[in-house]
Amino acid sequence: MSRKKIALIGGGQIGGVLAQLAAMRQLGDVILFDIVEDLPQGKTLDIAEASAIDKFDVSVKGTNDYKDISGSDLVIITAGLPRKPGMSRDDLLSVNAKIMKSVAEGVREYAPNAIIIIISNPLDAMVTLFKKVSGFPANRVMGQAGVLDSSRFASFIAWELGVSVKDVSAPVLGGHGDTMVPLVRYASVNGLPVMELLERKYNDAAKAREVMTAMVERTKQAGGEVVKLLKTGSAFYSPASAAIQMAEAILRDEKRVLMVCALLEGEFGVNGYYVGVPAILGANGVEKVVEVSLNAEEKALMDNSVNAVTTLVADMERLGF
Ligand code: APR
Repeated sequence: MSRKKIALIGGGQIGGVLAQLAAMRQLGDVILFDIVEDLPQGKTLDIAEASAIDKFDVSVKGTNDYKDISGSDLVIITAGLPRKPGMSRDDLLSVNAKIMKSVAEGVREYAPNAIIIIISNPLDAMVTLFKKVSGFPANRVMGQAGVLDSSRFASFIAWELGVSVKDVSAPVLGGHGDTMVPLVRYASVNGLPVMELLERKYNDAAKAREVMTAMVERTKQAGGEVVKLLKTGSAFYSPASAAIQMAEAILRDEKRVLMVCALLEGEFGVNGYYVGVPAILGANGVEKVVEVSLNAEEKALMDNSVNAVTTLVADMERLGF
């Protein structure tokens, strides 16, 4: 079997970590693209020079030329400006839409058969735009948000309960913004309901609800919490890890059920919009959206989140994209 090829569009903070993780896990040969001259060449040279230590044989190269992404099996896109303190994801809309349009044109031309994972914000809009400009089928265009949002929620739960995070599963659905929907009812520690464990810990149902509400709120604001501390950019280690988990599921045809920003065509009562939902990821990209029942409260939160996505997409269209 020949080696897979992974193109990373955007060689900034997330792009650099993506390149290192992809190389260390030997997911395939890595090509890092950026418009800034020498930056992707410098980062990849630095990463590649650790290959004798980390023992990876894959090649890791940088480029400023779209031609070099030819033949890529998978493309992960982080091109765009990150959020600055006080700036909402939506403020980024017009500047990043312009960038995404040019990226979609480059990828369409040179990697027409690749599967695409988008990380650039505002996520739901950027994925929609990429799909529109590229004309790629829905199974090959997706966004990363839910894997990270779920990881953040799971981390907070593990820290609160004093259990291994490996045992915590805590799905987050919806758009990648303040309206995201952490699914408390489906959060578990190896199948055991988190709410019951919290109630037993505090021996007080009201206190347990209060603690859960705080974790839900922290999850929704988690990106901003990091931005505030970093001051010069947004989270980059965890978004890279999240996208690499998705990439691995696709490149190794793992059929993992992960939270993916996927195009809905009737699932969850939504038609024609990209929203974060559980989906099976394998060699064909998004192989199936997995539906689960939502109760009235969860459905209301999901509807609210979908509304935020439709507004965002409408805003982008009004800006001419
Ligand atoms: N084509 C390719 N790369 C581009 C383009 C373009 N047209 N325009 C900008 N870039 C590059 C920048 O040169 C920069 O190196 O995209 C890179 C973005 O890197 P950072 O600014 O370090 O941002 P990062 O932290 O990696 O986040 C990237 O992901 O999570 C989102 O909100 C975040 O939208 C942001 C994106």
